[in-house]
Amino acid sequence: MARIFSGIQPSGELHIGNYLGAVKNWVALQGTAESFFCIVDYHAIIAAYEPSQLRQRRREMALGLLAAGLDPERCSLFVQSDVPDHTELAWIFNTVTPVGELERQTQFKDKSARQESVNAGLLNYPILQAADILLYRADTVPVGEDQVQHLELSRVIARRWNAQFAADADFFPEPRPLLTPTRRIMGLDGSSKMSKSTGNTIGLLETPEEIWAKLRPAMTDPARLRKTDPGNPDVCNIYTLHKAFSSPDTVAHVAQQCTTAGWGCVDCKKVLAGSMETELVPIRTRAASLRANPALLDDALASGAEKCRAIAKETMRGVRERMGFTA
Ligand code: TRP
Repeated sequence: MARIFSGIQPSGELHIGNYLGAVKNWVALQGTAESFFCIVDYHAIIAAYEPSQLRQRRREMALGLLAAGLDPERCSLFVQSDVPDHTELAWIFNTVTPVGELERQTQFKDKSARQESVNAGLLNYPILQAADILLYRADTVPVGEDQVQHLELSRVIARRWNAQFAADADFFPEPRPLLTPTRRIMGLDGSSKMSKSTGNTIGLLETPEEIWAKLRPAMTDPARLRKTDPGNPDVCNIYTLHKAFSSPDTVAHVAQQCTTAGWGCVDCKKVLAGSMETELVPIRTRAASLRANPALLDDALASGAEKCRAIAKETMRGVRERMGFTA
């Protein structure tokens, strides 16, 4: 049976970029195969952070994921640091990975270029990611486009470790990305990817008033200066959001009103706000009941971690045996 694994950073706020870019797909996939979704707190500590905030962000992320529809009956939702084997396997994978391959990763090049001193964790980030996936011997990894190169490296690591240590050759399967159907979501500025660090997000659990306060001034077609100018939906981030949240009929109507200057951008945004409400109301309701009943969250994470520790232990037994660590 196929195994699905994916991970998300505990940034605290789950925003609609994470939701449309990854989490909504996880919700659709859970239960179609054995599924593991991980809050990657060991990855998160690469950048300077406040321990009390890490605790709170991990929890807030778990709450967001459950509210978004992850169901502990159909998947294992867990925190990476609750399963210490992730770091043991990462250490082992360090020893079969050439530094040159890590230095060639686009994300490393981008991030390290912006820093004066680069810590080894940033370079080794994709090794820990490979360990996350392979610890569960997962073969399918639902992610966005930006993770494709990391996944390629995970396959190289699996292949190399298998060749070196596994007479049975395919102890670790080679994991494949399963790309999210939604195109990447830009932030409210319309020009950079929606991300917490850029501060251009809409939180999945924000109130309708908060969402409207962000949508109203959000960037649309930059060339449309007046309400009477026709717009081009294909370059408009609000139109991308309509495609994610509105019905096909509404999307067609929006495009027609935009290109004929029938609606101004604010009219269009009001319709979008309505479509978002339809999808977000049940999510907000689930979040409220989780906040009222924190034991539900604790139980979900505890049972996820317990299931994962058992599988991880089994994989590590096979790894240690093949690498000569057992008597
Ligand atoms: N690097 C991923 C991101 O930034 C998060 C992640 C960590 C992940 N481990 C993973 C994704 C394993 C998929 C599989 O989005």
